[in-house]
Amino acid sequence: MNTVTLNSGAAMPQLGFGVFKVPPAEVRRAVLTALEAGYRSIDTAAMYGNEEGVGQAITESGVPRDELFITTKLNNDAHGTDAAQRAFDDSLKKLGLDYLDLYLIHWPLPKQNRYVETWRALEQIAGDGRARAIGVSNFHESHLQRLFDETGTVPAVNQIELHPYLTQDNLRLFDGKHGIVTEAWSPIARSNVLTDPTVAAIAEKYARTPAQIVLRWHLELGNIAIPKSVTPQRIAENFAVFDFELAPDDVAAISALNRNERTGPNPETFG
Ligand SMILES: NC(=O)c1ccc[n+]([C@@H]2O[C@H](COP(=O)([O-])OP(=O)(O)OC[C@H]3O[C@@H](n4cnc5c(N)ncnc54)[C@H](OP(=O)(O)O)[C@@H]3O)[C@@H](O)[C@H]2O)c1
Repeated sequence: MNTVTLNSGAAMPQLGFGVFKVPPAEVRRAVLTALEAGYRSIDTAAMYGNEEGVGQAITESGVPRDELFITTKLNNDAHGTDAAQRAFDDSLKKLGLDYLDLYLIHWPLPKQNRYVETWRALEQIAGDGRARAIGVSNFHESHLQRLFDETGTVPAVNQIELHPYLTQDNLRLFDGKHGIVTEAWSPIARSNVLTDPTVAAIAEKYARTPAQIVLRWHLELGNIAIPKSVTPQRIAENFAVFDFELAPDDVAAISALNRNERTGPNPETFG
């Protein structure tokens, strides 16, 4: 498993398992399947309502805690110093853990304008050793710049929508310039990119599936990717991407598919 070193010094697996929209009743089985397939990084969120099931799977799997990398996110109703502290404690309890590997602010909610204050709570959580790294999600350059200007810490990770139809070149560059690791959500665009003729042709050339080609593209670019699936065969397929590499011209051909097309909300206006 490839890992990326975060600005906190923690090593984060470059490929993880996402559980957005996995119902609570299904999430335990899905996470157990992922852990059996070899994933060690799990991405959940208070918003997904399935942290308890993720926690059950972690316990049942028997995988030692220090081999796992667990991320969850602060919900949109928990911005503000006290609310953030309570939200963190609640997530930790639901997950059955005594520390998190990564805690993220899920959305900046610029209209609420409380993300700087919320970030200060996360700094405290990290300072207390309750999260090994802290970061943000869906933050644009202006939101990140305010954190740099008004607080003392640079986020370890910025988790953003990122796939061949939304390559986010400028934001990736900005993250990189500041030592922030870019993590891709909806890395296969909720499967929209899998039927793209360019992706299909490259898949045929390498005798791999379209999902494997797109995930490998993320790895070649240095992104962290967290594909979601509840289908055991796809969970395994998405993890089998460490035994081949894409040639630079194939990476470039996939990057050229960019259409600035989102599958999710725009962070500037969401919330
Ligand atoms: N921070 C944020 O705001 C945010 C927002 C969205 C997502 N996320 C995170 O990112 C993770 C991934 O994003 P996502 O769930 O939106 O989208 P995604 O991983 O790009 O795509 C998931 C969809 O693709 C299908 N799929 C997965 N592997 C496949 C394969 N090998 N072949 C064909 N289809 C395949 C899945 O179907 P089945 O499940 O039916 O197999 C599911 O419908 C989430 O689970 C969550 O952890 C974060």
